[in-house]
Amino acid sequence: MEEKGRVCVTGAGGFVASWLVKLLLSKGYMVHGTVRDPGDEKNSHLKRLENAQENLQLFNANLLDYNSLCAAIAGCSGVFHVACPVPPGQVANPETELLEPAVRGTLNVLKACSETGVERVIVVSSTAAVVMNPNWPPNRPMDEDCWSDIDYCRESQDSHDWYCIAKTKSEREALKYGENSELDVLTLCPSFILGPLLQPTMNASTHIFIELFKGLSETIENIVWRIVDVRDVAEALMLMYDKKEASGRYICAPHLVPVRTLVENLKSKYPNYNYPKNYIEVDQDAKPTSEKLKRLGWECRSLEETIIDTVEYYQEAGILNNS
Ligand SMILES: NC(=O)c1ccc[n+]([C@@H]2O[C@H](COP(=O)([O-])OP(=O)(O)OC[C@H]3O[C@@H](n4cnc5c(N)ncnc54)[C@H](OP(=O)(O)O)[C@@H]3O)[C@@H](O)[C@H]2O)c1
Repeated sequence: MEEKGRVCVTGAGGFVASWLVKLLLSKGYMVHGTVRDPGDEKNSHLKRLENAQENLQLFNANLLDYNSLCAAIAGCSGVFHVACPVPPGQVANPETELLEPAVRGTLNVLKACSETGVERVIVVSSTAAVVMNPNWPPNRPMDEDCWSDIDYCRESQDSHDWYCIAKTKSEREALKYGENSELDVLTLCPSFILGPLLQPTMNASTHIFIELFKGLSETIENIVWRIVDVRDVAEALMLMYDKKEASGRYICAPHLVPVRTLVENLKSKYPNYNYPKNYIEVDQDAKPTSEKLKRLGWECRSLEETIIDTVEYYQEAGILNNS
């Protein structure tokens, strides 16, 4: 296979990054993957990916350790900065556990890129950095000009909102860094990501989705879930890297579905689980649009395909057994 070049993926063992590493290896890229513990069993799936033996090199790197990042990134022309803490619930010290690795960690990655001569960096942000904006006109789709309002996030005192603050600050800093340097910095803002897992551990979005099957809440708010398939996120990152004309920020949130409709759909296909029974109707206007990414050439699976592949993977892996 023709060698495409050398790229680095941070947090390679995670849910999104594992699919990205798989895609890059399948296209003939040499991949440097950063993990915090190369010997940990939770990263062992990476070595079993096709072409990994020859083309994947794992580096021990922490976002807060600048030198470890430089060592991993040296020799690469592109970097996908995917790593970030994504806690499934409350964290005790959000400033140190979330903000610090998200914001300082991202700046460390970008500086390491500048120092080692990287050309393009794609930073994985989130729609958490887009949708928490109470001043956005209600009927206007939220495009790349829409940013979460940090003061509004802070006031809401919800544990998830520290994550919104961390993603908003780190994405803003990343784009600002790109404007003030030679480095070509792009960001991708995916919504809630589902899909089969490659890694043996369970990430936060998988954990949250599985709660729907396990009767943990009998009554839930009928909010709109914004869903994208993990394999389509990997394709979006690849496309942004490959297309010279790509620039700036891209929202990646193709499927908007009220959770009640989602549960009805799940129930009709997989009836034997303990789904929520009651819904509280709430106002929720946030409607991000993925038009810019689609104009770049991005296509995605149907929500139906994502749901089927995800649930069938869970069933085969035995993840839903103790419901
Ligand atoms: N999943 C979603 O629904 C979703 C939606 C929108 C955006 N995103 C973004 O997508 C990215 C990947 O998320 P994911 O769902 O794949 O989560 P994940 O499976 O939890 O992966 C996160 C990765 O970040 C690494 N990491 C965390 N703190 C680190 C640090 N201080 N130094 C080095 N590595 C560190 C973790 O490494 P360890 O294994 O060593 O902990 C892990 O590999 C994140 O930037 C997240 O904000 C996710």
